[in-house]
Amino acid sequence: MSRSTLFRLRNLLLLSCLSFPLSYGTNASSKSPRRSSYDYIVVGGGTAGNVVAARLTEDPKVTVLLLEAGVSNEDVLASEVPLLGPSLVPNSIFDWNYTTTAQAGYNGRVIPYPRGRMLGGSSSVNYMVFMRGSSEDFDSYAAVTGDCGWKWDNMQQYIRKSERVVPPADSEFSNSSNLTTTLTPNGGHNTTGQFLPELHGTKGAINISLPGFPTPLDSRVLATLDEQKEEFSFNPDMGGGDVLGVGWTIQSIGNGQRSSSATSYLKPAQSRPNLEIMVNAQVTKLVQTGTTKGRPAFRCVQFTQHEGAPVKKICATGEVVLSAGSIGTPLLLQLSGIGDGKDLRSVGIKAIVNNPSVGRNLSDHILLASPFAVNGNRSFDPIFRTPSLLNDKITLWTDTKTGPLVAGVTNHLGWLRLPSNASIFETVPDPASGPNSPHWEIIFSNLWVVPGVPAPATGSFMSISSALISPTSRGFVKLASSNPFTNPIIDPQFLSTEFDVFTMVEAVKANLRFISGKAWADYVQGPFLEDLASAKTDADFEAYVRNNAGTIFHPVGTASMSPRGAGWGVVDPDLKVKGVDGLRIVDGSVLPHLPSAHTQGPIYLVGERGADLIKASQY
Ligand SMILES: Cc1cc2nc3c(=O)[nH]c(=O)nc-3n(C[C@H](O)[C@H](O)[C@H](O)COP(=O)(O)OP(=O)(O)OC[C@H]3O[C@@H](n4cnc5c(N)ncnc54)[C@H](O)[C@@H]3O)c2cc1C
Ligand SMILES: *[C@@H]1O[C@H](CO)[C@@H](O)[C@H](O)[C@H]1NC(C)=O
Ligand SMILES: *[C@@H]1O[C@H](CO)[C@@H](O)[C@H](O)[C@H]1NC(C)=O
Ligand SMILES: *[C@@H]1O[C@H](CO)[C@@H](O)[C@H](O)[C@H]1NC(C)=O
Ligand SMILES: *[C@@H]1O[C@H](CO)[C@@H](O)[C@H](O)[C@H]1NC(C)=O
Ligand SMILES: *[C@@H]1O[C@H](CO)[C@@H](O)[C@H](O)[C@H]1NC(C)=O
Ligand SMILES: *[C@@H]1O[C@H](CO)[C@@H](O)[C@H](O)[C@H]1NC(C)=O
Ligand SMILES: *[C@@H]1O[C@H](CO)[C@@H](O)[C@H](O)[C@H]1NC(C)=O
Ligand SMILES: *[C@@H]1O[C@H](CO)[C@@H](O)[C@H](O)[C@H]1NC(C)=O
Ligand SMILES: *[C@@H]1O[C@H](CO)[C@@H](O)[C@H](O)[C@H]1NC(C)=O
Repeated sequence: MSRSTLFRLRNLLLLSCLSFPLSYGTNASSKSPRRSSYDYIVVGGGTAGNVVAARLTEDPKVTVLLLEAGVSNEDVLASEVPLLGPSLVPNSIFDWNYTTTAQAGYNGRVIPYPRGRMLGGSSSVNYMVFMRGSSEDFDSYAAVTGDCGWKWDNMQQYIRKSERVVPPADSEFSNSSNLTTTLTPNGGHNTTGQFLPELHGTKGAINISLPGFPTPLDSRVLATLDEQKEEFSFNPDMGGGDVLGVGWTIQSIGNGQRSSSATSYLKPAQSRPNLEIMVNAQVTKLVQTGTTKGRPAFRCVQFTQHEGAPVKKICATGEVVLSAGSIGTPLLLQLSGIGDGKDLRSVGIKAIVNNPSVGRNLSDHILLASPFAVNGNRSFDPIFRTPSLLNDKITLWTDTKTGPLVAGVTNHLGWLRLPSNASIFETVPDPASGPNSPHWEIIFSNLWVVPGVPAPATGSFMSISSALISPTSRGFVKLASSNPFTNPIIDPQFLSTEFDVFTMVEAVKANLRFISGKAWADYVQGPFLEDLASAKTDADFEAYVRNNAGTIFHPVGTASMSPRGAGWGVVDPDLKVKGVDGLRIVDGSVLPHLPSAHTQGPIYLVGERGADLIKASQY
């Protein structure tokens, strides 16, 4: 959502809702832990951290302290109402407010790099698209790490534990857009043909569902899959490990509201006496506690409410579990003396463990959102520029959990490959996880959703976004200073390889082919941005990409798994940090490369398997 839309939204409704609680439930303390030590300390109450905290405390004998730097998610309206989600970040109380360095591949542009800073972490602020990638992605993780436990087949048990399919939220109110759908007796529209129920869990933690509000794009996307079958095939469900093709989006939404790791994992566990949750508790350092098994042990952490506030120390008898995410986790390792010795010395930190892989190999999905002007007024744009309309829709949502605000940003998306005879493959090996994994993604949105670019004051739009799914660029994150409150250096090195540029150019050209058919003739006026409207040559498209691309917020790889004994990597396949004792990492940073998916689904699976690995090991 654009900056001006964001600004309007905040003025309209968010400020009045910003009386967020500073503690979580009556058992949360924003002051001090109640016990003198815990079996486990989980650092970061985000997507994976809450899975770990909830699963470990299923055993009433195990005590866990969960430390979250940000605020509680409770009563934050924009984190509940799906279509308000994009207003939460960047640059808010719910964000770490990071930005990248000037990106040479983006003609020197600096872009926002949001990360959720509240219970639920990025799952409380994300766009809720829910997938887990191709079977080849997980088989590749197994091959790269030498641990067949990461294979797709073995991960099925965690898919069943983590997800619960529920009916979509639409009701008779959906026909207010004149796109009436038939309702089933248990609520929601008839979803036959929109997904394959047998591929999904029905008893897991996170509510997931098909879109709950129809858009004028839906029938046009489906008609195009009929018209242009050779290039764009229909995928009946991307949840079964076969992601190629275009299909219906499944989102982490149930009963019309966001399902985050805070609502789905933490809330049901919150009343357990063996789980203690602290918000406003930023860990500033892991503290070495002597040496065990010949390795430095890190079983204590320091934390504080904010810069300048008193610093407290608390220790685990078992393990410290780092779940601070792909940016927070490598930074905490570095602040604690675990990282590239030369980099650490340059900010005045003594290296305890010299490991140059910490913070390196950052890879992220590039996003380029292309807005198109469309006919009619059934895009969601008018809602966000008409206060009375927005208020009506919020009331409708509050009363019935239906209406356009139950929509996520997309009802359809697709995963596609470059043709096998593409010229790039003459010089570059195919970087996809396998022959059935995509190089790029297409996303259809029924509104102007161009991160960082204000929506025009009038007009109706759709956005077609292209994402680079198998990037070969690798970047890094490192400390700018030994002060844990100083923003870090984040350099994803976007578009720094020939493959990445080639693929984005092909993806944008394919978008234009997709909407060139008769299904769109009565609807699309044309590209809204002049540099796309006038692009003819590959050089024109490349300029368009370099001037407009951003991120879809999926960094991974900065504390990567690698085989035991490898000369690179940060954690072993059981997620224990190499070269130290008492410390594990469970979050997106351990994934060796990007999955063919939006990253929350795979990271929930990392959380589930991570919790199992911890349970299985004796400390
Ligand atoms: C705007 C946005 C939109 C997105 N859209 C989608 C989408 O539609 N679909 C999808 O699948 N993925 C999406 N993603 C990506 C996805 O949400 C993330 O990849 C995933 O949630 C990351 O999980 P994690 O556990 O690794 O980290 P996080 O969920 O970010 O959790 C890290 C937690 O640690 C806390 N923390 C960090 N440092 C410290 C510290 N020093 N002390 C204490 N606590 C700390 C943070 O505050 C946070 O709560 C989006 C992300 C963003 C930001
Ligand atoms: C991010 O910016 C917002 C708005 O300026 C501010 O309220 C918030 O405290 C900032 N977050 C951090 C972690 O500094
Ligand atoms: C939608 O249909 C229901 C009946 O299914 C009807 O009660 C309602 O008035 C209709 N709404 C509109 C806006 O047409
Ligand atoms: C609503 O749908 C009906 C039937 O499909 C159609 O005849 C009518 O023109 C539509 N009205 C509007 C305003 O689009
Ligand atoms: C849903 O649609 C399918 C096929 O179109 C049909 O067989 C089925 O009976 C419908 N289910 C309900 C509950 O209406
Ligand atoms: C999950 O969805 C179900 C069914 O729609 C609903 O009853 C329940 O409240 C939802 N749970 C959460 C945590 O959102
Ligand atoms: C707080 O913990 C106690 C046990 O120590 C439990 O009985 C109670 O339900 C918890 N309260 C909340 C609000 O979670
Ligand atoms: C980055 O990852 C690759 C494997 O994909 C590995 O060979 C390389 O050593 C890693 N680099 C660092 C600095 O860890
Ligand atoms: C959309 O257009 C129709 C027909 O022109 C009009 O009746 C309706 O009020 C418009 N809706 C909005 C939200 O502007
Ligand atoms: C790839 O093959 C297709 C036919 O299968 C052909 O139309 C196209 O021109 C070829 N592209 C290149 C770059 O050779």
